[in-house]
Amino acid sequence: MTKFDKSKPHPRNQLNQLTGREWLYATRSVILSGTPAEPLNDLSPEEWSAWAAPVLTTSFPTRGPASAAHAIRRAHPSPKPPQLMAEVIQFFSQPHGWVLDPFAGVGGTLLGCALTERNGIGIELSADYIDIYQQAAAELELPTLPLLHGDARTCLQHPEITSRTFDAVITDPPYASMLSRERTGERRKRGNGAATPFTNNPADLGNLELGDFLDALRAILALAIQPLRVGGHLVVFVKDLQPTPEHHNMLHADVVNSLMQLPNLRYRGYRIWYDQSALLYPFGYPYAFVANQVHQFILVFQKQAEDV
Ligand SMILES: C[S@@+](CC[C@H](N)C(=O)[O-])C[C@H]1O[C@@H](n2cnc3c(N)ncnc32)[C@H](O)[C@@H]1O
Repeated sequence: MTKFDKSKPHPRNQLNQLTGREWLYATRSVILSGTPAEPLNDLSPEEWSAWAAPVLTTSFPTRGPASAAHAIRRAHPSPKPPQLMAEVIQFFSQPHGWVLDPFAGVGGTLLGCALTERNGIGIELSADYIDIYQQAAAELELPTLPLLHGDARTCLQHPEITSRTFDAVITDPPYASMLSRERTGERRKRGNGAATPFTNNPADLGNLELGDFLDALRAILALAIQPLRVGGHLVVFVKDLQPTPEHHNMLHADVVNSLMQLPNLRYRGYRIWYDQSALLYPFGYPYAFVANQVHQFILVFQKQAEDV
């Protein structure tokens, strides 16, 4: 019997252009057409390429009506501008999609969700920050989205989270010992040399040393991506710390290395957020170079299907 190449249309097929393989597929008695792959967002090609540029530069007002309630939210040591979060959310979800933030603070992500007609759920350790978020949402006349009180380690105990699938997990974790330890240069920002921790709670990741922080962050994000849909994105904001003689402190690289240990997560690359409104300080002047870090990394990961 003559053997035919299944990857080409059969020479005697006058009916269609199907290859042997396609014919086999098309003649199954049950055909699951499935859901067509959802486009990631509704951006135009121009908006998409602008967003994918390496540096996202912003200069949001910190006073007045356009400041997105900054006067209320600044009680937190590092609130993210809701307008910035809205841009990130618009890229990684569709209108009315679902976004989870396990380190929600005073709600930059949740306010960004409300500004872009997305659904959002957050978790935050500090009840005070939740209260501030609610005040900010009221001031901005935006819907108050669920910001659950608790340790992100328990995120899968909340039915609000486990009962649905999320399109993106977008978060801004507390950095290892970043605010609770005195740091060269940056401590001067706070005047008295003593930097402010987010909370004094031992469960606060911001109070952990680097190795413990990376392990705890990986463990929490492994839980947080469980309700993330396959193909959905995990977006993590990270700011590097100042180098010490012991370690480069490029925290973004440490976080990528750590999260790449999660088998169903693929690292996709980063963007740099350049905050033009960040103040400059003469760190090191006039003796040594100390970088004024006015940027943060936006690390992007994508959930992969589990190996079957
Ligand atoms: C960098 S801030 C997030 C700021 C937020 N993006 C905003 O716009 O307000 C990190 C937050 O994580 C919270 N946090 C620290 N450890 C936590 C934990 N184990 N579970 C939940 N939240 C935690 C801190 O209280 C802090 O508010």
